[in-house]
Amino acid sequence: MVRRRQIYEGKAKILYEGPEPGTLIQYFKDDATAFNAQKRGTISGKGVLNNRISEHIFTALQTIGVPTHFIRRLNMREQLIRQVEIVPIEVVVRNVAAGSLSKRLGIEEGTQLPRTIIEYYYKDDALGDPLIADEHIACFGWASQDEMNDIADMAIRVNDFMCGLFAAIGIRLVDFKLEFGRVWDGDYARVILADEISPDGCRLWDMKTSEKLDKDRFRLDLGGEAEAYQEIARRLGLLPEEG
Ligand code: C5P
Repeated sequence: MVRRRQIYEGKAKILYEGPEPGTLIQYFKDDATAFNAQKRGTISGKGVLNNRISEHIFTALQTIGVPTHFIRRLNMREQLIRQVEIVPIEVVVRNVAAGSLSKRLGIEEGTQLPRTIIEYYYKDDALGDPLIADEHIACFGWASQDEMNDIADMAIRVNDFMCGLFAAIGIRLVDFKLEFGRVWDGDYARVILADEISPDGCRLWDMKTSEKLDKDRFRLDLGGEAEAYQEIARRLGLLPEEG
């Protein structure tokens, strides 16, 4: 294997220097963490599935005009991406109450929300990614007001698109996390969708049975996590049909 210069290693991915300036290679690991890395494990084959699932969704989003960092998939575990300056904000979009929203506000898990909620979390492992308001983002200069308008618009477009994509395969898109990055064109920066979209950062429930088909299987020790990720890939038409 060609040795590449490692730029960054995260919990689920590694970034390597890309073949051209302004590009990176994003490598998907099987490692899984939860609760700010207090729980660690591996989900066999997860990296391969997330690479394919994320490619599928990012490619589709690009066709509807959402700019993303994705260039092309290189192999089973790697994709070529544009280098961005990550905006230090995790954007969570919620359609149904679950997870930290249910816990924080006492809303029963599974309650359909009357309107979609967008939340922002400050991306800082040492602080445990705290929930923040627009006021904090403006006060500490994490993103400009124009950037936040673009981010909110893109988050809504991604949500509308993904709700349809998953509904068509019998899956309820409960919530998910997005990350954005800046690309520079001279003095002008614009924000594009970055990171990945996969069952690691989405809650995906079977519409008929409410079975969880996402990383909550790992977080909650439900077992069958690899099978759940495979089921998502299979329903998206990304695995060869059996028989
Ligand atoms: O835990 P919480 O309910 O806030 O998570 C909301 C959504 O964001 C879930 O789909 C979860 O997978 C995702 N998330 C994530 N990475 C984080 C926090 C949340 O992918 N650091």
